[in-house]
Amino acid sequence: MSDPVAEQKRYYAERAPEYDDWWYRRGRYELESESLARWRADVAETEAALEAFSPGGSVLELAAGTGIWTRKLVRLADRVVAVDANAETLALNTSAAELVRADVFEWESGECFDLVFFSFWLSHVPEERFDEFWSLVGAALTPGGRVFLVDSGAGDKAHTGIDQADGEETRSLADGRTFRIVKRRWRPDELADRVRPLGFALGLHDTANGHFLYGGGGLS
Ligand SMILES: C[S@@+](CC[C@H](N)C(=O)[O-])C[C@H]1O[C@@H](n2cnc3c(N)ncnc32)[C@H](O)[C@@H]1O
Repeated sequence: MSDPVAEQKRYYAERAPEYDDWWYRRGRYELESESLARWRADVAETEAALEAFSPGGSVLELAAGTGIWTRKLVRLADRVVAVDANAETLALNTSAAELVRADVFEWESGECFDLVFFSFWLSHVPEERFDEFWSLVGAALTPGGRVFLVDSGAGDKAHTGIDQADGEETRSLADGRTFRIVKRRWRPDELADRVRPLGFALGLHDTANGHFLYGGGGLS
C-alpha cells in the first residue's frame, strides 16, 4: 500500500453516508436474528464497560467519525473534543462535542485531557506509526489521565467477503468501489503487551461473542 493513512482517510470520507449501517446492522450489513442478538449483546457489554469506566472531566476522542460513541461520551463527560480527518464524517456527527477536523498524526491540541478515547481506530494505525500514535496519546493526557479504546475483536467477521492478508483488507462501498486499508485485529493480551513498553498499563477484554475488544487504563 503506498500511503495507507491517506487511502484510509479517503475510504472513510466516501463511506460516511453508509458508515452507520454497519454499526446498526442495516441494509447490506443486516444479520439474521440470532447473529443480531449476539452483536447487540456485545454492543451492550461494551457500552456498559465504558459507563463503568466513568469517563468524567474532559475527553479527547480521536477519529470520532459520525459520532456513534461521541454521543455516549457527551452524556458521560463534562466536555468532549472530537477529532476526525474528514468533513464528511464530522458533518454527520451531531453530538454536542467540540468538533475538530484534523489528521490525528498532525494535530496538536495544546491542552491535556482526563481521558483519550478511540473506537475502531487503533486497528487502522499502521505498524510503522504505532509507537508515534501512543506517544501522541500520552502527550494529550493530564497527569493521572486515562485511555479507553474499543475495536474489532480478533475473530470478528463483521465485514464479510473481504480480502484479508497481513493486517490489510480490501473494503468495498455499496456502489462497488474498493479501497485497501490497514486492519489489524488485536488480541487483548497481545495489545496489552505491545503498549506496556510504551508506558501504558491497559486492562483489555474481548466481548462474550468476540465481536469487540475494549478496555482502558493509563500511563504506568
Ligand atoms: C472506523 S471509523 C471509526 C469512527 C468512530 N470512532 C466509530 O467508532 O464509529 C475510522 C474513522 O477514522 C477517521 N480517520 C481516518 N484516518 C484518519 C486520520 N489520519 N486522522 C483522523 N481521523 C482519521 C475516518 O474519517 C473515520 O471516521
